[in-house]
Amino acid sequence: MRILVTGGAGFIGTATTRVLASAGHDVVVLDSLREDVHGPREPVSGPADAPGDLPGAPPEGIPFVHADVRDAEEVRRAVAGCGAVVHLAAKVGLGVGIGDIDDYVSSNDYGTAVLLRAAADTAAERSAAPPHLVYASSMTVYGEGSYTCAEHGATRPRPRAEPDLEAGIFDPRCPSCGHVLRPGLVDEGAPFDPRNVYAATKAHGERLLGAWARATRSTATALRFHNVYGPGMPRDTPYAGVASIFRSEAEHGRPPKVFEDGGQRRDLVHTDDVARAVLASVEQPQEVGEVTPFNVGSGTVTTIGRVAHRISTLLDAPTPVVTGQWRAGDVRHVTASSDRARRALGWSARVGLDEGLAQLVR
Ligand code: UD1
Repeated sequence: MRILVTGGAGFIGTATTRVLASAGHDVVVLDSLREDVHGPREPVSGPADAPGDLPGAPPEGIPFVHADVRDAEEVRRAVAGCGAVVHLAAKVGLGVGIGDIDDYVSSNDYGTAVLLRAAADTAAERSAAPPHLVYASSMTVYGEGSYTCAEHGATRPRPRAEPDLEAGIFDPRCPSCGHVLRPGLVDEGAPFDPRNVYAATKAHGERLLGAWARATRSTATALRFHNVYGPGMPRDTPYAGVASIFRSEAEHGRPPKVFEDGGQRRDLVHTDDVARAVLASVEQPQEVGEVTPFNVGSGTVTTIGRVAHRISTLLDAPTPVVTGQWRAGDVRHVTASSDRARRALGWSARVGLDEGLAQLVR
């Protein structure tokens, strides 16, 4: 099947493109090679679809469109005739500050809208069915997710209060009694509660996909990724994930800086497993007329403190420093169950954390 991968030259995109092509699919990559991810480069001239020697461009043999997903004409040309689209192009991470808000909304919300329209229009012009859409969503759409209060049972906490964070109380409290809560695993039925701009754009993107699938009577899948890590992670940019940041520090013989108290829970899922989840979603469209969400995690919950220690040990670097710093908009624990993907797609993660981190630092 011909598949368009937007953001196919990025960290997740590169692994995904490789896996889709190995499975025999005919992959086309569209990527802007944006500088905040790929670093600065010389202006490019020449035909947009020439697979070039651009740093970060996909390997020879994979058709490459060097364009932004907001460029309607380029997207129309790239998506026409595709049986599926994997939409990974996005501005990721928690962001540098609120000054990023318009770039997030433009890149993620508007970019998704341009793509969805192009997919519907080009299919209609050819009297063909619209492509199946697979969208990179995020666990952050759930906000703090699900917690239990010893006294009040299941509860959904409000955003953490600044005085608590300043006082080093990092776990959310029960809205009824103020007791510190115990985190649980969220499933796909949990309501959206995005706590930062990036998360809000990912939640909105899912809503747009739902509206598109209903209007076009087509299928769409939203993959809510946990914290993805692995070879090719962006490094030394404000948008790099924590494993990459810790690796850079440790490689320079510096101690990784662990925010909060290091007890924040995350599920680090390897990019190879994520790419396999995309392949399974591409090949198994779900319900017509709606967007079907799947959590995509390794199933192993760890803490940021443990990740820092592991990376320091692997690189023989100084012991991590717990700084107590916190980031506005950060959630304390991001943990969800990926059972639904296992049942419906036959997918589960294969790369264990120790093995994956050892590979990351090699
Ligand atoms: C990450 C992804 C986001 C994805 C989400 C899914 C990045 C940049 N962000 O968000 O795209 O949708 O997972 O769950 O990949 N921390 C430190 N020290 C540092 C930097 C961070 O201790 O130097 C801590 C943070 O406070 C946070 C944790 O590490 O508690 C994870 O941070 P980060 O890697 O930025 O990821 P998320 O915000 O979880």
